[in-house]
Amino acid sequence: MSLKEKIDVNRLPRHIAIIMDGNGRWAKRHGKHRIFGHQNGITAVREAAEAAAELGVEYLTLYAFSTENWGRPKLEVDALMQLLLQTIKEEVVTLNKNNIRLHAIGDLNSLPMRNRKHLLKVIDDTRSNSRMTLTLALSYSSRWELIEAAKKLANEIIQQKIIPDQVDQRCIERLLETYNMPDPELLIRTSGEMRVSNFMLWQIAYAELYFTPTLWPDFRRDDLYEAILDFQHRERRFGKTSEQIQNVKKEE
Ligand code: FPP
Repeated sequence: MSLKEKIDVNRLPRHIAIIMDGNGRWAKRHGKHRIFGHQNGITAVREAAEAAAELGVEYLTLYAFSTENWGRPKLEVDALMQLLLQTIKEEVVTLNKNNIRLHAIGDLNSLPMRNRKHLLKVIDDTRSNSRMTLTLALSYSSRWELIEAAKKLANEIIQQKIIPDQVDQRCIERLLETYNMPDPELLIRTSGEMRVSNFMLWQIAYAELYFTPTLWPDFRRDDLYEAILDFQHRERRFGKTSEQIQNVKKEE
């Protein structure tokens, strides 16, 4: 039985988020520049997106560029932006063929004009696709997102649209970049690092975390299936007891 066949498609995570890590180390192992690692990461992006969509995952979010990544050497930043631009342009056909909608979160205004323009075009060109939403986190960080949400909330309070006592979870959620998405149920990080690196900190409150030593350019369909199978073997309690969860299952 293949890994894919072992997956219970009725208990898939609706939303999977991935911290794609290890491109630089992968390139070093191959005696190449870091940029070579990013270039080879594209195959993994394609594999993960196609495999997730085929299974029936509704949302896949990839951490492609963090606000902190702007601090990398200019050569690497420029190469990453070029790679993003090229990939977005080239993949529009595949996205449409696979009925995948492209979406982006992050400080898109800080992206080079050409990247923003093409990104918004592909987002528009794929907006009626309904099989899966592929979200790229670009110039994104959770603290940036929360600061932006705090500013918007402060303005709403000044404009008396809301009073401080009315502020609740939903009120914060509608101000986040992810306001129209369910929270990730599974967060995968590649390359053996065990950190969440400023990624979707609010949204992963109850996500299952899965760390794999595989470096991102080596990530393939089976790596995704393994992560999903691991997720399906876990008991998600959301702060409740194991007995409570078992009783709900029996009643279903
Ligand atoms: C982390 O590896 C990876 C990145 C900062 C960039 C990820 C980008 C891609 C895979 C290519 C573009 C993506 C899309 C969606 C078109 P690292 O450089 O931090 O690796 P290291 O930790 O080994 O140095």
